[in-house]
Amino acid sequence: MGEPVEIDTGQADQRAVYDALRARCPVAHEDGAWVVLRHAEVVAAATDPVAFSSNVTGRRAIPNSLDGPEHAAYRAVVDRYLTAERVARQEPVCRQHAVAIVDALPRDVTVKTIGGIGVPYAVRSQSSWLGWPAELEGELVAWMQDNHAATRSADRARTAEVAERFDHFIRTLLDERRDRPVVDVTGELLQETVEGRPLTVEEVVSILRNWTAGDLGSLATSVGVIVHFLAANPAPQREVRALVEAGDRAGVEAAVEEILRIDDPFVANRRVATRTLGLGGETISEGDRLLLNWTAANRDPLVFGDPDEFDPAGHAAANLVFGIGPHVCPGRELTLMELRVVVEELLVRTTWLEPARDRPAVRETPPVGGWARVPVVLR
Ligand code: HEM
Repeated sequence: MGEPVEIDTGQADQRAVYDALRARCPVAHEDGAWVVLRHAEVVAAATDPVAFSSNVTGRRAIPNSLDGPEHAAYRAVVDRYLTAERVARQEPVCRQHAVAIVDALPRDVTVKTIGGIGVPYAVRSQSSWLGWPAELEGELVAWMQDNHAATRSADRARTAEVAERFDHFIRTLLDERRDRPVVDVTGELLQETVEGRPLTVEEVVSILRNWTAGDLGSLATSVGVIVHFLAANPAPQREVRALVEAGDRAGVEAAVEEILRIDDPFVANRRVATRTLGLGGETISEGDRLLLNWTAANRDPLVFGDPDEFDPAGHAAANLVFGIGPHVCPGRELTLMELRVVVEELLVRTTWLEPARDRPAVRETPPVGGWARVPVVLR
């Protein structure tokens, strides 16, 4: 069993800040909002949608911002596209993308994990799933980078402008499909109904924006977190290599989910209190805003003991990477399949992954989680 490899992280690790804050107060007040850090309180808030509404911005996001029966109706539409059967159908094409990307990378020199593997894999897998043409890859990559930069800047106007550009981009794809019906997920969504009437264009755009923001951003970032973890931690890398060799698909997915728990890049989601109530010893007033911090909750020692211990089976039941409650991520199966496939192909096609010695890995700028740069060497 090897020892973890020491690497310079370049920038402060936000997880340490959350860990210290959570130890002092399970629910902290920062910048006008409650930050919910402890596992028990995050679960309590996420599973009580009556007291903690997801309608936080006034801007309708489908299904994310909806509550109650309205949420359930739209969520049923979304769930139809993310069933285990549909996910299984996507696996061969994801594997083709993973093989092409990993085979094209040089061995024994430093390569970029996020730019070289995560981003192209996310964009190609997403485009194949939605039926979008390969020529859009460049445009999608550029949009993803701008979206990331806008989130990092915390500038609302900039975020709105990037969202606007994406809407325009999707509307063009929808127009093409209206003129000439295309059998793909995007075309199918246009035929979809909710409560007996067709979805509006705004609703279809909102659903697609969500899937794309979820899939592209989180998938590429997750590849960075997973490759960083495996390269820096020889014992788990050996364990995951053995699972891949044994063809233990469930084992690899459990390992992926556990790595994301330890270093959860999907930091937080918002809620607004619909009435005054207590949470973690604090009084939350009606109208107060909350951030459910999944990253902090996923490292709560009261639940996980040593949060850095890699224990996929032991930690699975309490893992909050994909959330909990009525808004729990409908893309979990798709994500785990996509991440398993890229990990399988990366490990099968290499003998070892190690951190680059010539360039440090660099943390993302908060509030974005995960890593901005993960230089690695494939052996
Ligand atoms: C690593 C990848 C991903 C992570 C970590 C992740 C995590 C999450 C979390 C924590 C939530 C709960 C949000 C809340 O409670 O407010 C969520 C919701 C959601 N996710 Fe994901 N997600 C990922 C990928 C995806 C993918 C691939 C899709 C779709 C293709 C997707 C679609 C959604 C949608 C539509 C919701 C909102 C569900 C609702 O409001 O009912 N996500 N995700």
